[in-house]
Amino acid sequence: MSVAIHFKDIVKKYEDTVVIPELSLDIREGEFFTLLGPSGCGKTTLLRMIAGFNSIEGGSIAFNDKVINNVAPSKRNIGMVFQNYAIFPHLSVAGNVAFGLQNRKVPKPEMKQRIDDILNVVQISQYRERMPKNLSGGQQQRVALARAIVIRPDVLLMDEPLSNLDAQLRIEMRNAIKEIQQEVGITTVYVTHDQEEAMAVSDRIAVMKSGIIQHVGTPRDIYQRPANLFVATFIGRTNIINAELSGESAAPLLRIGSGYAEQLPPIPTGIPRVSQEPLPVKLSVRPEEFILSEDGTGLPGRIVSSMFLGLHTHAHVELESGQRIEMIEQSTHGQELAQGDQVRLKIDTRKINVYDETGEVNLTAGARP
Ligand SMILES: Nc1ncnc2c1ncn2[C@@H]1O[C@H](COP(=O)(O)OP(=O)(O)O)[C@@H](O)[C@H]1O
Ligand SMILES: [Mg+2]
Repeated sequence: MSVAIHFKDIVKKYEDTVVIPELSLDIREGEFFTLLGPSGCGKTTLLRMIAGFNSIEGGSIAFNDKVINNVAPSKRNIGMVFQNYAIFPHLSVAGNVAFGLQNRKVPKPEMKQRIDDILNVVQISQYRERMPKNLSGGQQQRVALARAIVIRPDVLLMDEPLSNLDAQLRIEMRNAIKEIQQEVGITTVYVTHDQEEAMAVSDRIAVMKSGIIQHVGTPRDIYQRPANLFVATFIGRTNIINAELSGESAAPLLRIGSGYAEQLPPIPTGIPRVSQEPLPVKLSVRPEEFILSEDGTGLPGRIVSSMFLGLHTHAHVELESGQRIEMIEQSTHGQELAQGDQVRLKIDTRKINVYDETGEVNLTAGARP
């Protein structure tokens, strides 16, 4: 049976060092949930707390209504897959998958059936009797996955399972993992530092920094309306530009430098204002959110470099402020962007994100892109 996981104010310390201060999070039953963040932010620590391999210094973790802080790891009914497959070299594929079932004293005929079924699910039935050393990295990782899910765990934990695979295989395996998880429907907590991988596999993602969750949302939420500048820069590529807002929340006017002013769509959070002075803000403008202006108005800039990549052309543009920005345009059959060209840029005001000066508050949160 799959479970929901509830973290309430949990704290993790290694000696006196707080690694996770009071984290709360709810993972839904059957969900593919990813912990994403830079190396050292506490992803593995959190996963090991779910598994019971780490002590918990404060708060509680519950599977459905049951607090599991003091439940032994072996009693938590968890399947785990790690970066270094950790499959037994002296056992065949079937032997590896049988291991957890033998421990649980599953009767022989049922065991055979369950091994057959799971090898089908992960698509390695033809290698049933092979030894691990005669399998590729991807196949070994499928064995590790089969071994983790054949026991019908309540929760499946995966810690950077694709890190040891080459780029092509990583993409193939992440698709396989996503499909297999959908088929078996087990609540899954997946750890990665690779934002593209996280977006490809997850129902929802928690972006972490220094043990603190910065944003929980669907891949689309997190890409399109990142909660703060850290999330905006960690997920995908973006340009951070200083600007000013004035006017009312219903019709805010955006200014960049002296040469650019444009009306924004209404700001749903309101414009925090202590005076009538324009409010300094930071914009996150993704490369694809710049538009080459054709009417001679817009932010002036000069093309520093451009690269034709088929469908798209990537360019670096130096603005009048001296800041260099990165933009992506769909390639046309007409004129190309050439180094040294003077251009005028507009920005897609529905898609960009506007933050307060600290970069901590997204003023456009909740606005439809
Ligand atoms: N056993 C340990 N003892 C002391 N510090 C640890 C231990 N394990 C991890 N840490 C520290 O906790 C922080 C989070 O580590 P970790 O959870 O492994 O990060 P991630 O998996 O996100 O890369 C890091 O600063 C790391 O150095
Ligand atoms: Mg880790």
